[in-house]
Amino acid sequence: MVCLGNICRSPLAEGILQHQASVAGLGIQVDSAGTAGYHIGEPPHPLSRKVARMNGIDISAHKGRQFRKEDMDHYDRIYVMDSENYNDVRRASGNSWDPSKVELLLNELYPGQNRSVPDPWYGEEDGYHAVYDMLDQASRKVIEKYANYVQTVPSKRHP
Ligand code: 4NP
Repeated sequence: MVCLGNICRSPLAEGILQHQASVAGLGIQVDSAGTAGYHIGEPPHPLSRKVARMNGIDISAHKGRQFRKEDMDHYDRIYVMDSENYNDVRRASGNSWDPSKVELLLNELYPGQNRSVPDPWYGEEDGYHAVYDMLDQASRKVIEKYANYVQTVPSKRHP
């Protein structure tokens, strides 16, 4: 999950998707990063932590970090919050850039519409709740997609 500062949208997106994955019994590793390095080492924004906590999710342990080329190699799927993040990820990835891995998160909910998750950084608490709802709905779509994928993989035999 990638946004600009890695303190408002993407740590919340990480917490929500990781939470939904564990509820669904999906063993996926979720992480987040920012395209900018303004908040490296910082915890998520107090309002992101608050709306997460109100929904039973604890994101306080996350520390802000900057997206790097190695993330493009390491992760199977990279969701960005807006088209500026998309372009910044492409730039930071250099020759590791793989467009088949990268998608605007809201395209999972509204395919092909290229909608952005708005940056709540400059606004009030209600903006964080609105972002939470968008991330929650989009993450449910992601879970459905990968739950279906997992079901098509034959399960291991246990002797
Ligand atoms: P985020 O929000 O990209 O959702 O983490 C922002 C956080 C910090 C800044 C901008 C956006 N900033 O300019 O410091």
